[in-house]
Amino acid sequence: MNHTFKFLVLSAFFACCSLMASCDDDEMPDCDDCTDELITGPYAPTSYELDFPSFLGQPNIPSDNPMTEQGILLGRMLFFDPILSADSTMGCFSCHFPEQSFTDGLAKSVGIQGIPTPRSSMSLANLVFMEKDFFWDGRSASLEDQAFLPIEAHDELNDSWENVELKLQRHNDYPSLFRAAFGIERKSEITRDLAVKALAQFERTLISGNSKYDKVVWFNDLSQEFTEEEQQGLELFEVETAITLEHPGCTHCHSGPNFTDNKFHNNGLDDVPSLADFTDLGRGAVNGVFFDNGTFRTPSLRNIALTAPYMHDGRFETLEQVLDHYAQGGHGVENEDPNIRPFDLTEEEKQALIAFLHTLTDTSFINNPNHQNPF
Ligand code: HEC
Ligand code: HEC
Repeated sequence: MNHTFKFLVLSAFFACCSLMASCDDDEMPDCDDCTDELITGPYAPTSYELDFPSFLGQPNIPSDNPMTEQGILLGRMLFFDPILSADSTMGCFSCHFPEQSFTDGLAKSVGIQGIPTPRSSMSLANLVFMEKDFFWDGRSASLEDQAFLPIEAHDELNDSWENVELKLQRHNDYPSLFRAAFGIERKSEITRDLAVKALAQFERTLISGNSKYDKVVWFNDLSQEFTEEEQQGLELFEVETAITLEHPGCTHCHSGPNFTDNKFHNNGLDDVPSLADFTDLGRGAVNGVFFDNGTFRTPSLRNIALTAPYMHDGRFETLEQVLDHYAQGGHGVENEDPNIRPFDLTEEEKQALIAFLHTLTDTSFINNPNHQNPF
């Protein structure tokens, strides 16, 4: 962390003791008719160089949302502030916990009204390396686009952007933070577009590339080596070199440095009589293509030991159950991916594969002080 950023975080931290207090009672805005006022405070943005190991890929930073220390700080505060929900009880952080690689441990996330969402929360690690297709069904084109949705979703934060904009404009501290990040002059210029830009800037800093796997495979760190079990697990995980068709071959889909091909597949979860019968149509509901019903984006497996339960609906509680599912080889539904085929694993091989998956856990990512709640 460089010094300016540390300073910003600390000063924001103190500013926010008052901020949390004011969040508690939205009925009592800090000012009523002040939204046209000029904002005091400096605008001197410090551009932010993303620091990441190059093997992770090309970062995607839109030219109309360059990263600055002030933008990231604002995004981090918005991410951890319940001001984004109708009753000031929840925010992004309520379903995305840093210590669980920004998932929430539930099969299906629950919003402010206690209604479960239809799906399981997703890890937010390494999203800067994704070009498009956010969410399980790929319905959001960018992180900026994505961040518009939870605020107004009834089963999530259940507020309106109009109201959130007003709360931010009337707030004691946010106007100068928005000015520091984006150079606006009046409180009324605080908009949803700027709020989602700041959230996306913060999310782009959530980079995980320092697991045991990375140390052994990418950094050639000689103080680290795989155990025999982990090595055996890696070999089972990787695509077969034509030894036998009965091979897990996970890298057919969980490929590359982020363990995803970023494509949509039916990985054989549901035994349905026809493609119209999936409970969740997934990609098919987004693009209207019947054959894509029941397909979902391959998720990254980074930090997978921390993100149970598994799959879009959280149906599996353990990695053992996930492996038992794959070993079964699907149900012969017509759009199942051809790489979903039955295979046999001995108990020892199963444990080896699980041991390998555990090497993808990156404790420096979950403990990174810059990713934690600033309040
Ligand atoms: C009520 C719980 C809940 C809240 C609140 C919430 N999320 Fe999520 N988040 C989810 C769920 C569930 C999904 C998967 C939804 C889907 O695929 O339909 C998700 C998916 C995402 C994704 C997509 C990740 C990927 O790999 O494509 C991003 C990014 C994200 N959330 C960021 C946020 C931000 C930013 C906020 C606050 C503005 C937020 N979330 C608030 C539950 C929540
Ligand atoms: C045909 C492509 C494909 C193959 C092969 C494949 N997966 Fe997957 N995997 C997916 C897709 C797609 C999903 C998400 C499915 C859903 O939620 O509906 C997924 C989900 C998962 C999840 C849950 C992730 C989460 O965040 O909930 C784990 C764990 C997983 N796969 C591990 C494996 C392992 C281990 C193998 C090898 C035995 C494997 N996969 C083989 C495509 C594949």
